[in-house]
Amino acid sequence: MTYTNQLSSNPRGSEQRGTDQRGTEQPDTYRLGHRPLRRLGYGAMQLAGPGVFGPPKDRAAALAVLREALANGVNHIDTSDFYGPHITNEIIREALHPYADDLVIVTKIGARRGADGAWLLAMSRDELIKAVHDNLRNLGLERLDVVNLRAMFGVHGPAEGSLEEPLTVLAELQQQGLVRHIGLSNVTPTQIAQGRTICDIACVQNFYNLAHRHDDALIDELAREGIAYVPFFPLGGFTPLQSTVLSDVAQRLGATPMQVALAWLLQRSPNILLIPGTSSLAHLRENLAAGQLILSSEDLLQLARLAV
Ligand SMILES: NC(=O)c1ccc[n+]([C@@H]2O[C@H](COP(=O)([O-])OP(=O)(O)OC[C@H]3O[C@@H](n4cnc5c(N)ncnc54)[C@H](OP(=O)(O)O)[C@@H]3O)[C@@H](O)[C@H]2O)c1
Repeated sequence: MTYTNQLSSNPRGSEQRGTDQRGTEQPDTYRLGHRPLRRLGYGAMQLAGPGVFGPPKDRAAALAVLREALANGVNHIDTSDFYGPHITNEIIREALHPYADDLVIVTKIGARRGADGAWLLAMSRDELIKAVHDNLRNLGLERLDVVNLRAMFGVHGPAEGSLEEPLTVLAELQQQGLVRHIGLSNVTPTQIAQGRTICDIACVQNFYNLAHRHDDALIDELAREGIAYVPFFPLGGFTPLQSTVLSDVAQRLGATPMQVALAWLLQRSPNILLIPGTSSLAHLRENLAAGQLILSSEDLLQLARLAV
């Protein structure tokens, strides 16, 4: 098959790219907060140095990746001020400020970095307020479009615990006009339900991909509620997905395994917005072209064997 790098333009949010896994038409965009976003966005975490700590080895390349993403139609960038820390946001600002009117930058708070790069809890009132102001300053914004509260009860996966206090602080910052929309990350269905009693929840960002499907039921529930689901580690994270099944399907389609992994997510549910991360221009172009790839029911059946 052939690909175009340019994402299809979709001014009315009505263009269709194919059918989902139940055979229903799926749109090119999905609403996050007040705006329809193209379903293929970009995750900026890989733009910091090794271990998401310190500067990248090639800052010019990082700037080029961001500019190329926007040139190819991306209007959704995921970031955090704890990437670097600060560095990823500074690179976004240098590359893209003043921002395009339709660009939505989603950030997250709730963690901070130790001097050795450790990921530490930062959910006290003062830490959350400081994090919002750090993001505003480093991104060069007066208001943040979307802020995800990143739960840290479990670093690698969701764990129960009340988010009432930190979410109340974030809702106050929203009322002050510093934050437009609030999302949750690394959370359980119970925490989402609790969160929705405190403020509107615009999106949920959890670990999910072709081989890591603990959130299957949650995704369907959020789709019914009209809430965006944004999987982190869509390609498998620091160790991208590898499997013979995935490679076989990719080879049959004349695509790459990473493109199949992204196309599978796009077909999984219309409320999924993608933020694959890369520090490479070639990988960025490859990932964005996955929007053109349609998987057949036979492909989907084969890929279902990867589910955990
Ligand atoms: N909420 C949270 O707790 C949380 C946690 C983690 C991440 N996130 C967000 O989610 C975004 C995505 O996650 P992620 O970047 O960690 O993981 P990912 O998108 O699953 O995978 C990124 C990895 O895949 C490689 N890669 C990307 N495209 C590729 C391609 N076409 N072929 C081969 N390798 C490819 C990248 O290396 P190269 O740089 O060499 O391409 C990088 O090692 C992040 O950028 C971040 O914004 C959120």
